[in-house]
Amino acid sequence: MANNVDFNDRMLALGLARVSEAAAIATVGWIGHGNEKAADQAAVNAMRSQLNKLDISGVVVIGEGERDEAPMLYIGEEVGTGQGPGVDIALDPLEGTTLTAKDMPNALTVIAMGPRGSMLHAPDVYMDKLAIGPGFAPNTVSLDMSPSQRVAALAKAKGCSARDITVCILERPRHENMITEVRDTGAAIRLITDGDVAGVMHCAEPNITGIDMYMGSGGAPEGVLAASALKCMGGQIFGRLLFRNDDERKRAQKAGITDQNKIYTRDEMVKEDVIFAATGVTSGSLLPGIQREVGYFTTETLLMRSKTGSVRRMIYRTPLNRAAD
Ligand code: FBP
Repeated sequence: MANNVDFNDRMLALGLARVSEAAAIATVGWIGHGNEKAADQAAVNAMRSQLNKLDISGVVVIGEGERDEAPMLYIGEEVGTGQGPGVDIALDPLEGTTLTAKDMPNALTVIAMGPRGSMLHAPDVYMDKLAIGPGFAPNTVSLDMSPSQRVAALAKAKGCSARDITVCILERPRHENMITEVRDTGAAIRLITDGDVAGVMHCAEPNITGIDMYMGSGGAPEGVLAASALKCMGGQIFGRLLFRNDDERKRAQKAGITDQNKIYTRDEMVKEDVIFAATGVTSGSLLPGIQREVGYFTTETLLMRSKTGSVRRMIYRTPLNRAAD
């Protein structure tokens, strides 16, 4: 029966890449067309249909929203054939709906899978996030430090000056003070308009992306996805849920969160080994976007397993009018 089957991450990984690829390919007609909802819906439909072909007994833990507000891939939805291991799934069929609608960089499709019970059931509220890449002592930086203290601590750990540090921050009015404080240290800031899963992942490959640290608030579900990615790539992420009203606090209670001020580490957000796949929709510093050639689509997917630390980049070419299988 489903839940007695081992989580065979090696066997499941390729299936996960297919799910991510399918969602990306479904968005292709919507890139640059100014319609976030249609792009997201296309990705959701494709991701769900591909996910339901996998031999898993899956539950969506991080999804498109609560059951009453999302018709598909809602939190708690059971996915897969039911013939396989019990797994938790965190997904964002289109991370960067606005980026896609405006054909701006770094839109991705994202999905992570781990054994049942391994992922934090983060409610759809904001999360204060802080991330750095691999190779630093635990707690080199912390959410309790001010933004300037975080820059100083990371510069000290890297043996460089604050001017050599680049911080990635979502460009939002709520981050104005943070941006001013970081700039006053001499550090550089890469402002992004959306897509903080990619923002956090950039920290894991600073030599390629030029980003050393991510900070600021964004979606809590995206925080769990980013933690899944860093569990595979290496690096530290800390997250604290932020509540704007009682309704949001109730959502957290409903999700089983008792300590609403807790700072979660990466391994508290994702407690066991995880597999993670992301496919580029629009080109960015992590992944190229979908390429359209005459008669074909080509996608690139990052497929990673935390157990082995393996990172694959898979290029997939498929005919435009491919028969269904
Ligand atoms: P969507 O893809 O759902 O539009 O989310 C994009 C995003 O930028 C996330 O990456 C981020 O966590 C969140 O929105 C930030 O929320 P807000 O736009 O409310 O600041």
